[in-house]
Amino acid sequence: MAGNRTFTMIKPDAVKAGHIGAILAKINEAGFRIVAMKLTKLSEEKAGAFYDVHRERPFFGELVEFMSSGPIVAAILEKDNAVEDFRTLIGATNPADAAEGTIRALYAKSVGENAVHGSDSDENAMIESNFHFSEVERF
Ligand code: GTP
Ligand code: MG
Repeated sequence: MAGNRTFTMIKPDAVKAGHIGAILAKINEAGFRIVAMKLTKLSEEKAGAFYDVHRERPFFGELVEFMSSGPIVAAILEKDNAVEDFRTLIGATNPADAAEGTIRALYAKSVGENAVHGSDSDENAMIESNFHFSEVERF
């Protein structure tokens, strides 16, 4: 059965460009409830740990540098079928391939600097939520 929570980050490019409010509006309009949220910044070490599955990929260095380059917004979101529906809302990894109206089509600059993260499975949503939030930070 599909779970009802996912984890997201508004990435440094979108925070720097002033898109926090617009992206949160899209998230609210799509019917997600905010369970937890914070403005924070990842160290290089934490960015590397978060994207550990990509450690052997050629873009790993760039990814870590980018994700630790400025503040991010981290959040846990709730909705039926949260993981899949949120991936639909954000669009393809490369904004050139992202469907019209999706968050990445609207706000991402490139395949690397692509505005938002969305968990790719219920299991990873739980791992990623635990990476950023304690129980008392969830409502
Ligand atoms: P996330 O929601 O951030 O996990 O993105 P995704 O699931 O759509 O893509 P994936 O997990 O495959 O890649 C993780 C992140 O690595 C992407 O969102 C990009 O920020 C970055 N990335 C992926 N491919 C490339 C690439 O070819 N070049 C660069 N510079 N970054 C990449
Ligand atoms: Mg991913």
